[in-house]
Amino acid sequence: MNPELTRKYSAYPQVKLPDRNWPNVKIDKAPFWCSVDLRDGNQALIQPMSMAKKLEMFDLLVELGFKEIETGFPSASQVEFEFTRKLIEDELIPEGVSIQVLTQAREHLIKRTFESIKGAGEVIIHLYNSTSTLQRDVVFQMSKQEIIDLAVKGAEMVLQEAANYPETKFQFQYSPESFTGTELDYALEVCEAVMGVWKPSPEHKAIINLPATVEMATPNIYADQIEWFCRNMKKREAAIISVHTHNDRGCAVAATELALMAGADRVEGTLFGNGERTGNVDIITLALNMFTQGVDPGLNFQNIGHVIDVYERVNRIPVHIRHPYAGELVYTAFSGSHQDAINKGMSEYEVNGGRLWAVPYLPIDPTDVGRNFESIIRINSQSGKGGVAYILDHEYGIKMPKDMHPDFGELIQKITDRDGRELKPEEIYKAFDDTYLDSHHPYDLHSFHVIKRHSDKQEKKSFAQIEAVIGVDGDDQEISASGNGPLDAFSTALKENITGDFRLLSYHEHAINTGSSARAIAYIQVRKADGNTFWGAGVDTDIIIASVKALLSSLNRSVS
Ligand code: KIV
Ligand code: ZN
Repeated sequence: MNPELTRKYSAYPQVKLPDRNWPNVKIDKAPFWCSVDLRDGNQALIQPMSMAKKLEMFDLLVELGFKEIETGFPSASQVEFEFTRKLIEDELIPEGVSIQVLTQAREHLIKRTFESIKGAGEVIIHLYNSTSTLQRDVVFQMSKQEIIDLAVKGAEMVLQEAANYPETKFQFQYSPESFTGTELDYALEVCEAVMGVWKPSPEHKAIINLPATVEMATPNIYADQIEWFCRNMKKREAAIISVHTHNDRGCAVAATELALMAGADRVEGTLFGNGERTGNVDIITLALNMFTQGVDPGLNFQNIGHVIDVYERVNRIPVHIRHPYAGELVYTAFSGSHQDAINKGMSEYEVNGGRLWAVPYLPIDPTDVGRNFESIIRINSQSGKGGVAYILDHEYGIKMPKDMHPDFGELIQKITDRDGRELKPEEIYKAFDDTYLDSHHPYDLHSFHVIKRHSDKQEKKSFAQIEAVIGVDGDDQEISASGNGPLDAFSTALKENITGDFRLLSYHEHAINTGSSARAIAYIQVRKADGNTFWGAGVDTDIIIASVKALLSSLNRSVS
């Protein structure tokens, strides 16, 4: 940046609150949540929601557990007026859910707002006017007293109008819009003047909403403002302090969290932070941040895919692939060391009976928001052997022995380096299949029989005699031998007749639990006379045949 340009800007003033308490406070309960998707979110869309889309969004918000939903600015928009009417007339508002409607402090707008909510059960009337120095001077050219008079007049009109709708239970809300651009003591004066009209009580509180209409300072300053406000308010017990943050500096979530620590009771925001300019605060992130601290947020995001689906369709805005908790890539590790750590963490978590979530690089269990493990580890040229092993295990039930990971990992690395792109799980499986399982050259198993077999418990001895037909470069060879078990006998037969000397270095087997038929997989590592080692694998419904195939697979690799 050109340093000269900084002259255009000045630093936001600090709040004098040396004995601030909020840094020591822990968020241990959920606030009251109010969704403003249908109003603040909607007014920021290139193409505002149609009636059908508003209904879809409303249903989603109810499903997620919101008890307070701002349905619009009915006096400013015909669609929002009609939408609010439809909700009421078609009885679409569930018991226990309040709708909220926004109005400016102007007589005809207030009247029209009340008309829109006729017949509703529970309504929050949200009155606002701008109080900031800038707006007072530049937009309204009004004095401080004139702004107070405007707010008081609006509050009186709200009170009077409400009396005409006795069937509705009202709660009143006031927002000194551009609160963060307003002198703090003056913002309090305006709010107290409004409270003086409404005369709220601890039993019937007013909502005082303190918006960061534009985010102008660091989150600690907003927290100071909220704590200062709560401490200096005369009838704090009669107010619900609500915060409504925008994300101009990218800190709306942090500002809201610190504001909750500073005493706020309620949060207004939107799904994925849709809203004017850089957006409103993202309620999903806030709620899941709480959830991952062991605090029940009181909202349900267990099917985040469904939320994304409705959000993207209704708002026509894609959710970013890196969006906290929801983005397509947020549970994905491409880096080898991350994959390895996740792999180990997941195994440990499973061993511990899945009690306390502690998996490196994953602040939340993806299944808690309806995401599966498929996406956790993806393979590209940054990935390592641990990630490849993880995919085979989680996708195909193939649990390669640890010593085999480098063998297959190197093979996959060559492919990703060559192709310069991500490999899908099915491509990784195909490479495994091509390399180990579907390996028939030069040695191909045509038949295998165990002729005799017995074991002597007392002498702790086993015996087996086998016969097999092996294709060797296309020619069939019959072999037979005996040993202390079928695999031992088969190795002897191979060594004596076909392959020459080798040593069986390691052997592993397990059942594969995917698919309908039960199958077993065996892994074998052999050492050839020249000292080189080779891994092979074989799958069959019969574990002995699986091991015989695995041995041939490792020998095939030794000559490929
Ligand atoms: O951002 C804001 O100040 C608003 C008010 C109307 C609450 O949306
Ligand atoms: Zn707003």
